[in-house]
Amino acid sequence: MAEKIESLLKEEGVYHPSDDFREKALVKDESIYSEDYEQFWKRAAEEVDWFEPYSELLDDSGAPFFKWYIGGKINIAYNCLDRHVNSWRKNKAAILWEGENGDRVVLTYYQLYREVNRFANALKGLGVKKGDRVTIYLGMVPEFPIAMLACAKIGAVHSIVFGGFSALALRERIEDSQSKIVITADGSYRRGKVVPLKENVDESLEGIDGVEKVVVVKRTGNEINFVDGRDIWWNDFIEGQSTELEAEHLDSEHPLFILYTSGTTGKPKGVVHVHGGYNVGTTITTKLIFDLKDEDVYWCTADIGWVTGHSYIIYGPLSLGATTLMYEGAPDYPSPGRWWDIIDRYGVNVFYTAPTAIRYFMRLGDEYIKKHSLSTLRLLGTVGEPINPEAWRWYYRTIGKENCPIVDTWWQTETGMIFITTLPGILPMKPGSAGKAFPGTEADILNENGESVGLNEGGYLVLKKPSPSMLRTIYGDPDRYVNVYWSKFKGCYLTGDGARKDEDGYFWILGRIDDVLNVSGHRIGTMELESALVAHPLVAEAAAVGKPHEIKGQAIVAFIVMKVGVIPGDELREEIREFMVKEIGSIAKPDEIHFVEKLPKTRSGKIMRRVIRAIAEGRIDVGDISTLEDESALDEIRKK
Ligand code: WT7
Repeated sequence: MAEKIESLLKEEGVYHPSDDFREKALVKDESIYSEDYEQFWKRAAEEVDWFEPYSELLDDSGAPFFKWYIGGKINIAYNCLDRHVNSWRKNKAAILWEGENGDRVVLTYYQLYREVNRFANALKGLGVKKGDRVTIYLGMVPEFPIAMLACAKIGAVHSIVFGGFSALALRERIEDSQSKIVITADGSYRRGKVVPLKENVDESLEGIDGVEKVVVVKRTGNEINFVDGRDIWWNDFIEGQSTELEAEHLDSEHPLFILYTSGTTGKPKGVVHVHGGYNVGTTITTKLIFDLKDEDVYWCTADIGWVTGHSYIIYGPLSLGATTLMYEGAPDYPSPGRWWDIIDRYGVNVFYTAPTAIRYFMRLGDEYIKKHSLSTLRLLGTVGEPINPEAWRWYYRTIGKENCPIVDTWWQTETGMIFITTLPGILPMKPGSAGKAFPGTEADILNENGESVGLNEGGYLVLKKPSPSMLRTIYGDPDRYVNVYWSKFKGCYLTGDGARKDEDGYFWILGRIDDVLNVSGHRIGTMELESALVAHPLVAEAAAVGKPHEIKGQAIVAFIVMKVGVIPGDELREEIREFMVKEIGSIAKPDEIHFVEKLPKTRSGKIMRRVIRAIAEGRIDVGDISTLEDESALDEIRKK
């Protein structure tokens, strides 16, 4: 496959940080890139507090099951809360929260600490112990970080399920993680409407055992069903609980969370992260890449349901003692001025968002932006997918007023922290390139035979060294961990992305090279989509592929063969789209559904997705079709 990867993006000019930014930046010295790998991770570990020091940095004897900071005792919640409460930061704003309906809450470190302790004590009271799994299914409310930090504080493992996932997707994740507790809300707000979270939880728990308690935050006030003995309101749950609690002293390798992400098969992977290495990695990257200083207001627009929210709304910023902003709602609600208004009102200094959002606002025109000053901004970031240079320049000019460096940050759910980016005070920016491998990491581009390719040649993006923040395993499936990430090339972590590296060591990400789509910065596997599609009682066969989309990056296109006798039409098309929302969630709703008589297959019966993708992308040359069983299937798809 590697030889088929072409480097499509071309470099479009180079931008430099201003002298002013450079002078004030936390990293001014390029020598950080030549620092010894082990030395770097030892120094980074000094950014967090340890109950007991570690004796050995890395144990690779069980590779690829690496262990870091051996013998160390730590707790990420302690580093996010207690240590700041014991410092001058006690009354500093930890979280600035704004609801979609205009509600506002400020939680200082001390207030957050107290709330976390109350909730953690309540969990303990229920019998939740070290290592127990807790599923969290919430909108962006202040209770979200409280719940996750409370789990961390007692050594329970949180499994957060994005609030946009359906009841069925939630059930699959609750079952896989064997959670005893689910934390949710009556509903969450999205564009003024209520997403019925509790109703989804009820549906997800039908017919499965194991969940003993459902804790319900009251947010939207809609009527909900209450199961006696199982369900309890958040406020009743924490009633009378102490606001003090000592953090568990946990082994560095104690699991912190499971987060499910899509892969090439139908079943999502439960990516496992641990307290020690993840705490070190998220803290050092937040500090150096976002150049975060104590006086900054920092805003990452992600949802905590995704890894970006875990690492760069909560754990990284709070561990550093920063002020992090959380906004509950949609970016354009009630008007497209909402985000820009928030930036001005809170004086946001560092702003981190996704290319899909940037393209969305770019298309709306600058009018909504011009009404705002945005003068407090000093650094911008992007994440989730490659940013097209046009959107990059718009972001730079219209949002950053040509005065803010942009950090384009490449990473994954699995890496836990940013791996490829520029350090904003020392490295020039190249629109469309994420930048260089972060200190303490090593990335490379390999061909099919596992050899490093030449400059600017496309190939497989791999990580040549493990680093502390990376996943430890796939929950309940260590073999899958080894097979997916560490088997293709010996000693290398396979990212699943294609990329090229230029003469300055800058990486240009070309997108996924496996059957995984990136829709609005969210990963979704084609197999997962296809198994959901064929779950529809009238669907016989399905192929899902991605197609370039102006705002989302990729759009989902489904080709469907109906069961014999079914006459397809617009109504059925709509029904299948809604079915996908039920099966997975709105991110899985196909943009296009085409009904066909047959799908192009190999003689051995495998769907030739590569060929379908080429047609969906409008390419004339669809590549090698010598193994195609029946060419008429292609013509049919072409016509659609
Ligand atoms: C995949 C990981 C990690 C945050 C959100 C997504 C793509 C991510 C970039 C970037 C080009 C990027 C890759 C990666 N990706 N950031 N800056 N430039 N591509 O997390 O769902 O685990 O997806 O997102 O394809 O493998 P995720």
